[in-house]
Amino acid sequence: MNRTIQAAITAVGGYVPEDKLTNFDLEKMVDTNDEWIRTRTGISERRIQKEKGKATSDMVAPAVLELCKKRGIHPDEIDCLIVGTVTPDMVFPSTANLVCANIGATRAWGFDLSAACSGFLFALAQGAALIESGRYQKVVVCGADKMSSIIDYQDRATCIIFGDGAGAVLLEPDTNGLGIMDSILRSDGNGASYLHMKAGGSLRPASQETIDNREHYAYQEGQAVFKFAVKGMADVSAELMERNNLTGNDIAWLVPHQANLRIIDATANRMGLTTEKVMINIDRYGNTTAGTIPLCLWEWESKLRKGDNIILAAFGGGFTWGAIWVKWAYDTQ
Ligand code: UT7
Repeated sequence: MNRTIQAAITAVGGYVPEDKLTNFDLEKMVDTNDEWIRTRTGISERRIQKEKGKATSDMVAPAVLELCKKRGIHPDEIDCLIVGTVTPDMVFPSTANLVCANIGATRAWGFDLSAACSGFLFALAQGAALIESGRYQKVVVCGADKMSSIIDYQDRATCIIFGDGAGAVLLEPDTNGLGIMDSILRSDGNGASYLHMKAGGSLRPASQETIDNREHYAYQEGQAVFKFAVKGMADVSAELMERNNLTGNDIAWLVPHQANLRIIDATANRMGLTTEKVMINIDRYGNTTAGTIPLCLWEWESKLRKGDNIILAAFGGGFTWGAIWVKWAYDTQ
């Protein structure tokens, strides 16, 4: 790709709630056990936003404030803020608007982007395009979900997977060949039947019937999603590497969506990467949907080096999936 301006990630922030929901807690809630959850998913515990009156925006705000502090900027310098989420505080206004008001990002415009587990990747590509256009200098891209607000804690097949969390990155222009290098993003609405929330949208507005039928919770056919995810995430990652002449040796890190350790392993294998090059925190946070990838970047930030080739990859509801190649732009002091 031949661009004069590229979008470089110049700071990272993250937030996870303090309360933990462990496999042993879940054993008391549904018919499951720690061993099954760990061997089938790789998860030991997740974080849950328990405090009443708190929502997704309350996790995004501290993540964005952290990156502003690290970069030494005030929130009113942000031009645009995008939140990838499927658990917005409200149907409208957007979570992005609420975050901007909360943190004093008075000059920014913003919007939410709905692409489930690929929400951060899609938002990152969108944010990068705004920077590459030359019209914007500081774009904040967030991935955040309060999955506990849409999870049925009577459904053992889904409640064991998901957790709450938020991450955010700052994008700024770069003219030295660093930043977002290339991306392959895909979506296929034919996958909707396997992973969706039945009610609460215009098709089935909330009613006594939708509540009685427990239709305001995430519905997933796990095995089917698993098969599509293994293939989808590995395919796009391999395609992105091939078309940029990258081999496993060229890649410093894979940052995979944290849905299931077995999906992560399959993707890493296909890319020719050993586990030391793969960011994995699913054991501690579970699947935070749009939050997983920026939360990994947040936790690994100090290990990243200027010029590192990093592949971000995700697969999720929609179906939506994709991979983005990033050349890391800074060393942490
Ligand atoms: O991030 C968005 C995209 N989502 C994903 O990528 C998730 C993809 N799917 C998965 O990660 C896996 O399919 C799950 C973790 C959801 C389920 O694992 P699985 O290995 O596919 O299990 P399964 O659905 O094939 O179920 C196997 C057995 C069943 O029992 P029978 O029918 O063999 O007797 C289930 O009823 O395991 C049973 N089971 C459980 N047992 C203990 C299902 N959930 C549980 C549970 N504890 N929590």
